[in-house]
Amino acid sequence: MTRLQGKTALVTGAAMGIGHAVAERFVAEGARVVLADRNGPAVGDAAASLGPLARAVTMDISDETAVAAAFAEVESAGWTPDVVVANAGVQLFGEDAPAADLDLDVWRRTIDINLTGTFLTVKYAVRALLSRGGGSIILTGSPTAVNGEGWAFTAYSASKAGVHGLGRTVAAAYADRSIRVNTVQPAYTETPLVSAISDDPESRAAIVSRIPVGRAGTPADVTGIMVYLASDEGSFATGATFSVDGGMTTL
Ligand SMILES: NC(=O)c1ccc[n+]([C@@H]2O[C@H](COP(=O)([O-])OP(=O)(O)OC[C@H]3O[C@@H](n4cnc5c(N)ncnc54)[C@H](O)[C@@H]3O)[C@@H](O)[C@H]2O)c1
Repeated sequence: MTRLQGKTALVTGAAMGIGHAVAERFVAEGARVVLADRNGPAVGDAAASLGPLARAVTMDISDETAVAAAFAEVESAGWTPDVVVANAGVQLFGEDAPAADLDLDVWRRTIDINLTGTFLTVKYAVRALLSRGGGSIILTGSPTAVNGEGWAFTAYSASKAGVHGLGRTVAAAYADRSIRVNTVQPAYTETPLVSAISDDPESRAAIVSRIPVGRAGTPADVTGIMVYLASDEGSFATGATFSVDGGMTTL
C-alpha cells in the first residue's frame, strides 16, 4: 500500500474519530502525516502510536494565530503539506436546537469551529500548497448540509452548508494553480462525536433504520475516498462532493 508515497499530509481533528482513521490510513499508504488537533496530549499520543511517519501539532482551528503558528511550525520542520484534510468539527448535541430556541452562543461556537475554523485551515493550506506547486485539500462536510437530517441541527447544518460552499469556491479559485478542493460527506459514523446517539439504543436504531445498507458507518469507511482524493489518481476531481453514507441520502 504505497498510494501516497512521497506525499506530506496535515489532518485536523486527528486525535480521534474520522481524522485519526484518515491519518492512520495515510501513514499506511506511505505518506508523512501531521496530526493536528486542539487536544494536545491526545494528538501527541495518537501521532506517537503511528511511528516515525507521523508528528503532532496542537492547533485550535478557530484561532487564526494558532493556525498560522501550526503551519509555520510544520514548515520549519520540513513537513510543509501538499495534502490537507480540514476535518475537525463539533456537533453540540443537547445545545443545538430549533431556531427559536437556539442560543446565540451555541450558534457562534458551532460556526466558529466548523465554518470559520475550516476557512482558516483552508487559508493556510492554500498558502502551503502554493509553495509546493499544488496539492489536494479535502473538507469533511455532512449530508445535513444538503438534506435536513435532524430538526434540532440548526447551527450544525448551517455550518456544514457553509463548508460545502467554501469548498466549491476555493476549488474554482485555485484550479489553475494545481490545487484541488473536494468535500467528503460521511453519514452517521460511530465516533466520539455521536456518542449521544450511539449510546442510546433507541436513537441508534432509528438512525441505522434510515441507512439502506443496514449498518452504521465506521471511521475506516471514510478513509478510502480520502486516499483517492489525496493521491494523484484524483487529479481530475475538484470542486466535488463525495458521499460515503450507506445510501442514506438516496431516500
Ligand atoms: N461522526 C459522524 O457521524 C459524522 C458525520 C458527518 C460528518 N462528520 C464530520 O466529521 C468530522 C470529524 O468528526 P468525528 O466524528 O471524527 O468527531 P470526533 O469528535 O470523534 O473527533 C473530532 C476531533 O476534532 C477535534 N476538534 C474539535 N474542535 C477542534 C478545534 N477547534 N480545533 C482543532 N481540533 C478540534 C477534537 O478534539 C477531536 O479530536 C467533523 O467535521 C464532523 O462534523 C461526522
